[in-house]
Amino acid sequence: MKIGFFDSGVGGLTVLYQALELLPKEDYIFYADTDHVPYGEKPKEEVKRFVTEAVDFIAAQGVKAIVIACNTATSIVIEDLRARYDFPILGIEPAVKPAVLENKERNKKVLVLATRLTLQEEKYKKLVRSLDCEHKVESLPLPGLVELAEAFEFSDDAVLPYLREQLKNVDIKEVGTVVLGCTHFPYFRTALRKLFGNEVHFVDGSVGTAKQLRRLLNNRLEEGDGTVRFYESGRLVRDEAKLSRYRHLMERLREDNPV
Ligand code: SIN
Repeated sequence: MKIGFFDSGVGGLTVLYQALELLPKEDYIFYADTDHVPYGEKPKEEVKRFVTEAVDFIAAQGVKAIVIACNTATSIVIEDLRARYDFPILGIEPAVKPAVLENKERNKKVLVLATRLTLQEEKYKKLVRSLDCEHKVESLPLPGLVELAEAFEFSDDAVLPYLREQLKNVDIKEVGTVVLGCTHFPYFRTALRKLFGNEVHFVDGSVGTAKQLRRLLNNRLEEGDGTVRFYESGRLVRDEAKLSRYRHLMERLREDNPV
């Protein structure tokens, strides 16, 4: 049986990429809700409906687990999804805990970048309250990065002016770790590094989620060959130009994560 991956758009590929590295003998379904992306600035109830419809669709294909490779969807609907299905559903949360731990000894701040919806959810606030006794965690919504990724726009000319504007009130020298709390953001690690410099650490939840998936499937590993079937809002993607854009993004991630 396949493993389902869900995201509002192309961000989930950053997690699928790590899963393919760790579990290359599984087969996958990747579902991007391209009709409704971006989620991060929409009303919560609307996003809940979109995610539930999409996950119903993936479940109907017959899967042994689903990864909600979208921080926004995880923060608002993961508990409902777990109650709805009898197979495992994994989510992804901003990796605030490792970021806070690594900054305990240094007098530096943790900056969490995510969508507005993720940052305003109680799940996120609770996580920060439980970890951040010294109030060193700050957050910043960057919805423009989701739009840039969906437009396959990664050039410095488009990305750096947006980032400079959004970060103008952040004291970069005080930041020790940046949490990429949206699965679209790892595509912009190189651009972010140009502004934050080489001393700042970047963390994201993609590797941790892939490892958790491997643990979960430990006794049920398949002999597949890493085939990925792509869907866009319920439509199987057959168009070669679209498929090659997905492959191109995975290649980008490979270049950013050399083995
Ligand atoms: C979005 O659709 O706005 C981004 C989703 C995410 O948080 O990964």
